[in-house]
Amino acid sequence: MPQAIPRKYLPFPPVALTDRQWPNRVLSAPPMWMSTDLRDGNQSLFEPMNVERKMRLFRTLCEIGFKEIEVAFPSASQTDFDFVRALIEEGHIPGDVTIEVLTQAREHLIRRTMDSLRGARRAIVHVYNATSRPFRENVFGMSKAEVVDMAVNAVRLIRALADERPETEWVLEYSPETFTATELDFALEVCDAVTAAWGATPEDKVILNLPTTVEMATPNVYADQIEWMHRHLAHRDSVILSIHPHNDRGTAVAAAELALMAGAERVEGCLFGNGERTGNVDLVTLALNMHTQGIDPGLDFSDINAIARTCEHCTQLPIHPRHPYVGDLVFTAFSGSHQDAIRKGFAAHKADEPWAVPYLPIDPADVGRSYDSVIRVNSQSGKGGVAYLMETEYGVAMPRRLQVEFSGEVQALADARGGEMTAADLWQLFSRTYLEDRGSMRYVEHHLFEHGSAQGIRIHLELDGVLHLVSGEGNGPIDAAVHALQAIGVALQVRSYEERSMAASGNARACAFIEVAQAGRGGERYGVGIDANIVTASIKALVSGYNRLSGRAGGAAVEAA
Ligand code: KIV
Ligand code: ZN
Repeated sequence: MPQAIPRKYLPFPPVALTDRQWPNRVLSAPPMWMSTDLRDGNQSLFEPMNVERKMRLFRTLCEIGFKEIEVAFPSASQTDFDFVRALIEEGHIPGDVTIEVLTQAREHLIRRTMDSLRGARRAIVHVYNATSRPFRENVFGMSKAEVVDMAVNAVRLIRALADERPETEWVLEYSPETFTATELDFALEVCDAVTAAWGATPEDKVILNLPTTVEMATPNVYADQIEWMHRHLAHRDSVILSIHPHNDRGTAVAAAELALMAGAERVEGCLFGNGERTGNVDLVTLALNMHTQGIDPGLDFSDINAIARTCEHCTQLPIHPRHPYVGDLVFTAFSGSHQDAIRKGFAAHKADEPWAVPYLPIDPADVGRSYDSVIRVNSQSGKGGVAYLMETEYGVAMPRRLQVEFSGEVQALADARGGEMTAADLWQLFSRTYLEDRGSMRYVEHHLFEHGSAQGIRIHLELDGVLHLVSGEGNGPIDAAVHALQAIGVALQVRSYEERSMAASGNARACAFIEVAQAGRGGERYGVGIDANIVTASIKALVSGYNRLSGRAGGAAVEAA
């Protein structure tokens, strides 16, 4: 009999909140944003940023619109200390931006931290200590009362040092680190004690930041914890309730969204989810999620690619190609049915109507991405993507049945070759398949003439290397050409004919599409001709169709061989 294994992981205990309000709330305004890219994000890098990289990212964060930026952990690194000094002494901080720095709740570290801020116009001092039982008992060896004292003593020291420097406008932020693993009534006790020690008022609020230092439960549990604190804080009107989700379970964005519904009003995180382990909450995703729900996040991601490249340079970390909103592939559809729906959605979209293009939760233009990359083609793709690229890139608007026919050629080549087909690959295949003189018949020239009410034509062409001059009459040039070809034993039946201008591609030529059948050969084939003269384009299309029917024109089989 297998032995019972002791349970290694225990389910997270529920919060005693039977009348929770957050599930009924709807977000309608953005939170206060705080970027910790230069602190939490920085401390998680293989190689923390140097001053030059920090400065570059700081500028980008200001341009995006962050008004609060945690710039350093000055007592932990000389580079960070120097960076804070450079920001202040060299005047890099815009008037509407407040810098923030982190410190542990220890006297010498607090003194060093306050030194780094000398001369700042306004500063947030962020002090933290862990509060959960494993930390109290195993790391600090402290009772609950001693942990409260640690926090309160740190806050009193910050207050005393701040009072010595009235030239700076001081704001206190306190984080009970490991909040989500802390008994809620104890987290409340510490937070209330800190609020009182700072002397917070509705005019001079304290920021209480409640982190999921390690994400350990489903997002609704975090929301419950935040609502519970929101409803129980002794001086709620003197508090800015802040959240700091990490992404260990991959649900930081959801946790942040629910926590905001539960009463939080400020969010700390990083661009593209950088940060310790699996990262801090991704502020870009959070903000653009709001944007797509009609809430102006107050952050500017209208050139998201430029921001992504700056982040990659500064952090030396690549952004995943499927990262929401920014990844290289997120505005790309490979599957044929998706491509078809997107193409139709774009065609139907009107600028003044709500966005409803299938498979695209956001208009790529809103984040500075172009439509060009929306449709990509591989062996999974259908006619929609192929048709879209041929039309947008080369001005060839294919009739529907030609789309079907040509996508078969595309898939055969994509299967044989593997990988993605670019627009240029498609054009090359299209040319080989329909346009180039690769079959047994080759158009040379033609002359039109009139014979009574009939249209006459004389055509020079080569068949199997032999030059022929044939002539015929009909009710139009194509009909006449079909009759002319009969003179050399070519009996074609025209099933459909369309011509389209290629002017949209900046190319004032005509494209003729002729679907032909031939007695004795099963099925139909399309022929395509392109020329400045529409009759020439039509006869070339007829010749192309004949070559396709004869199975001797170029195409996927030729390419793959
Ligand atoms: O994740 C965390 O708990 C922190 C605190 C310092 C806020 O980064
Ligand atoms: Zn953190």
